[in-house]
Amino acid sequence: MNNSVSDIEKQTHCAELQLKLLKRDIEELQQGINEKIVISKCDDELLKLQTENSKLKHRLKILQRAIEKYPSNVQYTEMESIQGILTNSFSKAIEEAFPDLTEAPVVISLSGNNVKFGDYQCNSAMPISNLLKQIGKKISPRDVANDILKHLSPHECIEKLEVAGPGFINIYLNRQYGLSRLSTIFSHGVKPPKLEKALRVIVDFSSPNIAKEMHVGHLRSTIIGESISRLFEYLGHDVLRLNHVGDWGTQFGMLIAHLKDRFPDYLEKSPPIEDLQTFYKEAKVHFDNDPEFKKRAYASVVKLQSFEEDHVKAWKMICDVSRKEFQKIYDRLGITVVERGESFYQKHMEEIVKKLSEEEYLIEDEGRKILWGEEPGVGIPMTIVKSDGGFTYDTSDIAAMKHRIQDEKADWIIYVTDAGQATHFQTLFKCSKKIGIVDPEKHRLDHVGFGVVLGEDKKKFKTRSGDTVRLVDLLDEGLRRALDKLKEKDRHTVLTVDELEKAQTSVAYGCIKYSDLSHNHNHEYVFSFDKMLEDKGNTAVYLLYAYTRIKSIARNANFSPEDIKELSKKYSISLEHEKEWKLGKVLLRFPDVLFKITKDLYLHCLCEYVYEIATTFTEFYDACYCIEKDSSGDIVKINHGRILLSEATALVMERCFNILGLNPVEKM
Ligand code: ARG
Repeated sequence: MNNSVSDIEKQTHCAELQLKLLKRDIEELQQGINEKIVISKCDDELLKLQTENSKLKHRLKILQRAIEKYPSNVQYTEMESIQGILTNSFSKAIEEAFPDLTEAPVVISLSGNNVKFGDYQCNSAMPISNLLKQIGKKISPRDVANDILKHLSPHECIEKLEVAGPGFINIYLNRQYGLSRLSTIFSHGVKPPKLEKALRVIVDFSSPNIAKEMHVGHLRSTIIGESISRLFEYLGHDVLRLNHVGDWGTQFGMLIAHLKDRFPDYLEKSPPIEDLQTFYKEAKVHFDNDPEFKKRAYASVVKLQSFEEDHVKAWKMICDVSRKEFQKIYDRLGITVVERGESFYQKHMEEIVKKLSEEEYLIEDEGRKILWGEEPGVGIPMTIVKSDGGFTYDTSDIAAMKHRIQDEKADWIIYVTDAGQATHFQTLFKCSKKIGIVDPEKHRLDHVGFGVVLGEDKKKFKTRSGDTVRLVDLLDEGLRRALDKLKEKDRHTVLTVDELEKAQTSVAYGCIKYSDLSHNHNHEYVFSFDKMLEDKGNTAVYLLYAYTRIKSIARNANFSPEDIKELSKKYSISLEHEKEWKLGKVLLRFPDVLFKITKDLYLHCLCEYVYEIATTFTEFYDACYCIEKDSSGDIVKINHGRILLSEATALVMERCFNILGLNPVEKM
């Protein structure tokens, strides 16, 4: 269905183009005929021209009829992946031109800032020429490039192609195409290209541990995982966000035993544990110093794991206290995640251990039962059963993998944790393939590991007294610092109390998220409020300001959002000026930027892209008037096409912000 529609679109477009050319030819011919009559009155020539003319008229009629069958103005509904279109077209051409080569590289890239090299480039000619040499054919890269062009079928997005230098193919985008795709922003919203297949994607993120403080590492996982989920949801995948909280370890025996001692009436009255941290520390001291307590603690774990009623109740109480604390952070940062902790998998762990034992995958090792990902002795094994019979973090992950693939029908699972767990996940992935849960042909597994968060002293992020920083305190400090910044810029004198508060939260949480997301996640990063609150460079503050400035253009010309919608029906986005077209082309890249991130999961590329939008907008705005005012400040001229371009820019930025978890405000 989709295919045939886009085929018709293409045919129509080609027919329209041919029609235009024919009309021009006819005009020229007619003119030629007239001139000929006057000048030479040469009958022969005249006759020839007239037959040619009637032939052309005949072809014209056929084409016109063909066009009438289809709606003449095909309405596009979304943007397209230009890189995808070019890659497809060029790989077809390359295949046809060089059928002897089985793996000819198709290299399509952006041309960079120099307009002389076109907008995109195909750099396949050189490597293809080398491959041909290996099979005994000597063809220069320039000739290869020309051969490719001979076989390339035209696509409406291509304006012009040229072979340059030693064999680069420069590709120029067609403005009319750009315009038709950018116009969909007003008719249909900023819509991503249709997916070939929607996947079931599980994102395992945040995942703090009950009764322990959620630390900056978990904050990174939370921020990155939320953005990955938003991206995949936006593209139309079926996303399940899972919070794999640590809620089932041996520490619960200790905590339950301590709860019973401290609040003997816990079954009747909900224990007033305010500070789980302190509660945990007390329990630990007791555990380390009192052998009798230790015994009770161990007994409690066993009872909990066999779901003894009172123990389950006590466990739930403890989890609830933590859960409420975590939720406060999630609410403030706008995080959505479904809790499905290690405890959820208890039954599944029992089952899978049984199965793995029966199938003889488990190997005895000093009382433990272990599972190797490859040959025994290669790499590190997973500990599936401890010597005391208990399960581990590894067991829960193996059980979770099985549940996610078989019951949740995941096509793709993405784990977001600190890079320190890389080996754990690589081993988990290997083991899951080995025992036949995961099929590498069908399932994709990724570990998005991130570097440690450092303090400004480049040491592990800690408070001055050396304690881990509580996230609530961190967010509070963010709010304080954001307000200071806004006041420093005198914003409190222009904004209403409500506007100021909105700007404050937007800046505070926005800058914390953005500084995390804009760094390559593999690298460690320095947490610095001073840096993230700078209003120059690639920071949230700069972008949020840029956005409000863009939004103010239409507002200053007295256009409401409804007016803009109406305007977009009467006028088209202006792409004539070199700087307008430059901005337009950046906006057209939006789908490609997103697709690339789904391949490598590097969200910092999206940050770089929004930043590029903002700076390219500035270039445009410096060169092109949107509104002209006279000396008394009255508007004398409005360039509607440019107002539309500005609004389209703001809409694409909004989309990016949404994926990055930034909440832009209209005034700041
Ligand atoms: N709770 C773990 C931690 O704090 C993270 C869990 C990540 N998810 C997983 N499926 N192992 O380190």
